[in-house]
Amino acid sequence: MYFVNNDALAFLGESVQNIMYTFINKRKGFVKMSNLRYFTAGESHGKALVGFMEGIPSGLSISSADIDTDLKRRQGGYGRGGRMKIEADHAEIISGVRWGKTIGSPITLIIENRDFKNWEKGMSSLAAFEGSIPAVTKPRPGHADLSGAIKYQHHDIRNILERSSARETAMRVALGAIARKFLFEFNIKIGSYVIQIGKEKIQNSKIKNQTSAGKLLEMFDLAEKSSVRCPDKTASEKMMALIDKAIKNGNSLGGIFEVFITGLPVGLGSYIQWDRKLDARLARSIMSIQAIKAVEIGDGFEMGRRFGSEVMDEIFYRKEQRGKLAGAGFYRKTNHAGGIEGGMSNGMPVILRAAMKPIPTQRKPLNSIDIITKKPVEAAYERSDICAVPAAAVIAEAMAALTVADAFLEKFGGDSINETKRNYESYINYTSDF
Ligand SMILES: Cc1cc2nc3c(=O)[nH]c(=O)nc-3n(C[C@H](O)[C@H](O)[C@H](O)COP(=O)(O)O)c2cc1C
Repeated sequence: MYFVNNDALAFLGESVQNIMYTFINKRKGFVKMSNLRYFTAGESHGKALVGFMEGIPSGLSISSADIDTDLKRRQGGYGRGGRMKIEADHAEIISGVRWGKTIGSPITLIIENRDFKNWEKGMSSLAAFEGSIPAVTKPRPGHADLSGAIKYQHHDIRNILERSSARETAMRVALGAIARKFLFEFNIKIGSYVIQIGKEKIQNSKIKNQTSAGKLLEMFDLAEKSSVRCPDKTASEKMMALIDKAIKNGNSLGGIFEVFITGLPVGLGSYIQWDRKLDARLARSIMSIQAIKAVEIGDGFEMGRRFGSEVMDEIFYRKEQRGKLAGAGFYRKTNHAGGIEGGMSNGMPVILRAAMKPIPTQRKPLNSIDIITKKPVEAAYERSDICAVPAAAVIAEAMAALTVADAFLEKFGGDSINETKRNYESYINYTSDF
């Protein structure tokens, strides 16, 4: 009897184990096995930033120059600090690309920190250099400084600020440039523009409710020419004047930008599980950028202030559109949803908006407490940006590219670009006949 029971238990245990095994291995969302995996490493004044990405199919043309274009865009913007003048970022491709094309193996990138030459001892990995620069002990409000020091048991805040700094986002932009190049193979384009800095904003009528990819790309082109990434000339000038005022007063500014994605087929993401929803994935990835404090999709918060009839995108049909768009002849005249319904792309441009808080470090330092003496002090000051909203918008483009590329690979798979294309085209043919 004893043996029977034990066997039965063993059998039951094995079955449960098998079920868990199947669940963990086959249900990707359950263990967060994304299709595109990436990490960044590196400290702000360390030797270099390193990025690692796996999941880009073989056969994609990519070069350092493709990546450096986006790195340059991230470094721009009116109101940046001195650091941006020191660093002319360049991504070196270490692995995963041969003779100009991805080979399917993990891609590694390195971006050297040119400023490292001034920090060789201070940021050295060698114990011999311990104490070669003074410890940072005055936590800056609005930064990871104090909570990070307590959490990781550090009495030198440099150990926190070196990694929490937005310098890390240079590598995200570099990895995002590869994702962007991949998406471009499918005519998916990603752009951004700034709509507000401090209280200065672009007129609402110019940006609201975009249904047209062409119009969004037009605004993007205009934004690329503006020092504050704003497509409206008058608003740009007012934003720059406000930044000048902040510089003069030793203050800082935040703002709001929009990111758009055009050319997405219907059905990226899914309603069937919380962590597969495209809107949730985008919100998470954009929110992960330093100083981003809010993300809206489509009309976002405005939806909460309207009647239902005002904010749903009614569905229309035009037979002659069949075959042209993924989603057959179905179309919308409005885009309040920002291109996502039920956690899936609906064929309209995806539009999201994010708010960045003002830069926490200020020339007129804020009150703080020294973590060693516990005495009131002025917060530490290190050369700092005054306003970095245009750069944050470029970083958000990269995060959107990485997120959408992941969802795209989840839907279409493929170990080579050719295979992904075959899968994609077959789906597009199917949807245009739906
Ligand atoms: C592109 C970019 C540049 C930034 N530059 C600075 C800076 O020069 N000085 C600073 O204090 N904060 C800067 N920040 C903001 C801080 O990194 C951020 O506020 C801080 O890490 C705390 O994170 P949290 O605001 O998400 O809580 C920048 C953020 C971004 C996205």
